[in-house]
Parts: sequence; structure tokens; C-alpha cells
Amino acid sequence: MRAVDLIAKKRDGGEWTDAEIRFMINGYVKDDIPDYQMAAWAMAVYFRGMTSRETTVLTMAMAESGDLCDLSAIAGIKVDKHSTGGVGDTTTLIVAPLAAAAGVPVAKMSGRGLGHTGGTIDKLESFRGFRTDLNTSQFAQQVERIGVAIVGQTGNLTPADKKLYALRDVTATVHSIPLIAASIMSKKIAAGADAIVLDVKVGEGAFMESLEQAKQLAAAMVDIGNLAGRETVALISDMNRPLGHAIGNALEVREAIRVLKNIAHGPLRDVSLAIAAKMALLSGRYANETLALDAVTHALESGAALQTLRKLVEAQGGEPAQVDDPERLPQASFEIPITAHCAGYIRHISASKLGQVAMLLGAGRADKNSVIDLAVGVQLQTNVGNRVHSGSVLCVLHSNKPSHSIEHLLELTKQAFTIAEQPLTVPPLLHGWVTTAGFSSASSSLL
Ligand code: URA
Ligand code: CA
Repeated sequence: MRAVDLIAKKRDGGEWTDAEIRFMINGYVKDDIPDYQMAAWAMAVYFRGMTSRETTVLTMAMAESGDLCDLSAIAGIKVDKHSTGGVGDTTTLIVAPLAAAAGVPVAKMSGRGLGHTGGTIDKLESFRGFRTDLNTSQFAQQVERIGVAIVGQTGNLTPADKKLYALRDVTATVHSIPLIAASIMSKKIAAGADAIVLDVKVGEGAFMESLEQAKQLAAAMVDIGNLAGRETVALISDMNRPLGHAIGNALEVREAIRVLKNIAHGPLRDVSLAIAAKMALLSGRYANETLALDAVTHALESGAALQTLRKLVEAQGGEPAQVDDPERLPQASFEIPITAHCAGYIRHISASKLGQVAMLLGAGRADKNSVIDLAVGVQLQTNVGNRVHSGSVLCVLHSNKPSHSIEHLLELTKQAFTIAEQPLTVPPLLHGWVTTAGFSSASSSLL
């Protein structure tokens, strides 16, 4: 087999055999196939697409390029979740304790962030002493004991995806539905879950800007998961407005705690309940969706999920007192309010601009080796659809630099808000669910 012939085959609209896909992926990981051929290969996929079968074979080849986690030592159906990125998306910190408190074993591997803000692992490190490097038996034992463990990616997980993703990033081939679907699903499958709940974001700043595209990406991932023997469903949720009010590591942890304390209501809570309920359903512990939703809602309202977060923090070496009193989490030296220059209704909040501000304040990584500042970020005081007056506080920057040294960021923050004269209808938060049976629109209920 020759790489050049396989590239030509896809360029001309052909379909690869399983062996041809494995030949490219295995060869690329071993450095037998150079970047320039792999780049041409990815570009051919970008223009020609892949069938479900091809995408599933690509996913499995990438999953099998490194270690495969075996969670069979943990009893029960292990359900994982994944959100396709979102600024200020703190759902894992809420969903993991919610699902665990409803009896779903949550054995989660999470990543660190690049750009925007940190990943779940960075956020958890806002708890002083929190350890994310449990070994396999500690990981399994903790899930058995308290129902949940969240660890950093250990070992050599999906090296093919790491290498291919870095290449796609610099060859304008990220935005391909089969490549995104295979990339995400290879990591989920390698992480060992039996069932997977996906949250596919649609809107400005999301990978998929239209509902049609989001449905296609969701369907591609649902197909792969089910073909690979992992029951998979996908929620499509709106990203045209920030999900939560916090962007920044400790700020997001504080917001997650407010949701679990039943203080914060709104989209972040609603999406978290929807995902956790679906996880509860897939775990097989509940006979129907209503019972699953009741269980996770009860876990939230009774404080059981908050107690589970407390146990998680304690079990992994952190300080549970920071859960009880989130003021003890890292705090920035300066709080700089950003105010509205006119009265009206918030038409749009650019999640990507605010993500950029948070990153420039130090909340995210410019490259793999940057050190992040856990305390800093942006705290929104309003959301899309709200009425504001001239001088109303739109958000507060939590900064460790004084305002006179970050003038450019104050300007960039202002640009993130579009204020209109007329009131507007806010788009629905939950668009619907994609399963193997297709798309069903979310009605008024969460499920
Ligand atoms: N996230 C991933 O992990 N991979 C992609 O290709 C896109 C988003
Ligand atoms: Ca403070």
C-alpha cells in the first residue's frame, strides 16, 4: 500500500477499506508517513467526507494507537460525558457529583485546557492540595467507595489523535465533521466508558455554528459510539449566550458550588440536570426518563450532590472547607467592573471575546507550558435578553494586574457586549437530542 494512492482515492471520491485507514493511522504514529502526506489525506477528508463505517474505523484505529483504559474492576455501567467545548462551561464539575449522587459510577478522565480557560483538571486544582494523578487501583477504589473520581489523562492515550489534531490545527482541517467526531470519540472510547452522553454546542464560538451542522456532528458521534458497542446519545445545546456566569478556573468552581448549593439557577443548572439525568438513564438504574430526572433533581435539591463534591475533594487530597466556604478559593487582587455605555437589551455576548479576555488575564494557556492563574477571569453580571441601563455593570474582571495596566482588555471586554434598543426573544437553551433513531426536539421539559 502507498499513502499517495490512498490520498488520490479519497481525492477522487472513493471509499477506503478498513485496512487502508489503519495503514495511514498506524504509519503516521510510527513516523513512517510524513506530515505532508497526512496533511493531504486530512484535506481530502475535509472535501470528500467519510462514511459512518470509515469514520468508525478511523476512531478505533486512533483509540487503539495507545492505551485503552479498562474500567471493568468498577461494578456497574460506567457512563462518561463530553461537551464539545464552550467558554465558561463548568458542567463536568456539576454533572459528575450529580450523577454519582444518583448512583451512576463516574470514573472520569479529564484534560487540561489550552487557550480560553483551563480544563476540568485545572479547575479542580483550585482546591488546595487536590491531586489528579491517582493510579489505576486508587482510581477504581475511589469510584467504588464514593461513586466518583476525576483524574488527569495518564499514560499514553490516543497518541494518533494528539499528532493528527496538532497537524489539523495548522493545515486548516479542523472543521471536518468526520475528523472532529473521530477525534472526540477515540478519546472517549480509550477512556473506557460503557456509555457516553455528549453535549454538542451550537452557535457563535462553537465548532458548529448552525443547528444543521450540529445535528450532523452529533449523529456522526452517536453512530460511532453505538457501532463501537458504547451506547451514545447527544444533546444539542445553545452557545449563543454563555452557559454560566463565570469564565476562569476558581470563578467557575465557585459557580459550580453555587449550583450544587441550589442557589444559582439558569442555563448552567438546566444543562447539567439534563446531562446528568441522561447519564442516570443510560446507567440502567432508572426505568424511564422521568425517574432519572427526578433522581438527579433530588440529588441537587437535597444537597446530596454537594456532599458528593465535598467527598470527591477530600478523597483526592483537597480541602473540603473550600467547598463549604468558596470564598476560600483563590481570589484575585483587583475586581474591575465593566459598565454599559448605553441603555437597552443585551442582544449578544461574545463568548469567544470573553474567553480571550480571560486568557489574557492569565486564566488560560497560550501554549502547553504556560502557568495559569487560577484566581483570574470574567464574572458576568447579566446575560442575553436582559435589560440594562447606562452605567449598569455588565461584568467584573478578576485580575491580578491593576486596571491601568490592562486598558486594552477593558476595551476588548466592552466589545464583547452588543446592546440593542428593542427587546428580543432569547433562543432556546436545549435544542434536542440525537440518538440512533434520529433527532427529537427538546420540548419544554429537560428531557
Ligand atoms: N475537540 C477534539 O477533541 N477534537 C476535535 O477535532 C475537535 C474538538
Ligand atoms: Ca472577592
